[in-house]
Amino acid sequence: MDNIYEPQIVKITKIEEQSPTVKVFRLEKIGGKFKKGEEGLVFRPGQFVLVGQIGYGESPLGPLSSPYENKYIEIAVRKTGTVTNYLHSLKEGDEVTLRGPYGNGFPLDFMEGKDIVCATGGCGIPPISALVEYIIKNKEKFGRVYVLYGARTPEELLMKEKMEDWKKDGIKIILTIDKPDKNWKGQVGFVTDLVKEIDIDEANAVATMCGPGPMMGALEKVLRPLGISDRRIFVSMERKMQCGVGKCQHCTTGKKYVCLDGPVFNYDEIENNWD
Ligand SMILES: Cc1cc2nc3c(=O)[nH]c(=O)nc-3n(C[C@H](O)[C@H](O)[C@H](O)COP(=O)(O)OP(=O)(O)OC[C@H]3O[C@@H](n4cnc5c(N)ncnc54)[C@H](O)[C@@H]3O)c2cc1C
Ligand code: FES
Repeated sequence: MDNIYEPQIVKITKIEEQSPTVKVFRLEKIGGKFKKGEEGLVFRPGQFVLVGQIGYGESPLGPLSSPYENKYIEIAVRKTGTVTNYLHSLKEGDEVTLRGPYGNGFPLDFMEGKDIVCATGGCGIPPISALVEYIIKNKEKFGRVYVLYGARTPEELLMKEKMEDWKKDGIKIILTIDKPDKNWKGQVGFVTDLVKEIDIDEANAVATMCGPGPMMGALEKVLRPLGISDRRIFVSMERKMQCGVGKCQHCTTGKKYVCLDGPVFNYDEIENNWD
């Protein structure tokens, strides 16, 4: 994506309210397209970009749009503090800064030829969305693909329309809600209760987990019973970040830097280091 160290000014061309606290922003490069890397991708699913504004700061966010799309990238932003509240105050046509992509992303080559289980909750869905878009474009290289996604309430489930499209492309989606309303007809309970729904070749499967720290510990209870070895479980970690490029030490987990060595780690590299 051009010079990854230099913030570029991008325009917000579309904003969609996905839930009471999450908006999806479409960002377009002014006067051109985003540059693709060697793999033909604008970013690797699981990488992050830093989006913000001079005077407010920047937030690491995982793009959710197809990594093949170079006219725009889309991010989902949950309102939590200074930068994300600022982003939520913006309108279509406003401009923000963007730099990146940073980090490693999911090990796409290693995942080829395998069944894939993506377990996530709440606002952990964006990197999974980019991964699923990648898989759909390269369908013949992957086995069965499951997305297990949980949210507290039906209104907090993100990207419902996108998931309907994924289903048409053969992705198996299993949703669960913690606190259903009267219209909810799907599963009730935690993501951890979904394991019984999955039919994979566990000896040849890869799992990915994305979400807030406490949820990751719980997700482990989904993946372990499936028999997928730790070596084939990949976790995307969220940490406070500043520089994004290994200089400020804000993002350490154990001896690793989430911005440089991650954000995607092998499960056995970071076990018990969620928070
Ligand atoms: C690799 C990566 C990908 C991410 N992808 C997304 C995404 O797609 N969508 C999304 O909404 N959020 C994502 N996050 C989390 C997002 O970066 C933070 O919520 C955001 O930076 C908070 O900034 P703020 O200035 O609004 O909050 P602050 O005012 O700095 O803090 C508000 C609260 O958020 C916590 N917080 C601050 N920074 C982070 C952080 N980096 N990770 C987790 N908690 C944090 C603080 O501890 C505090 O409790 C991602 C984080 C990482 C590291
Ligand atoms: S964010 Fe600065 S070292 Fe990782």
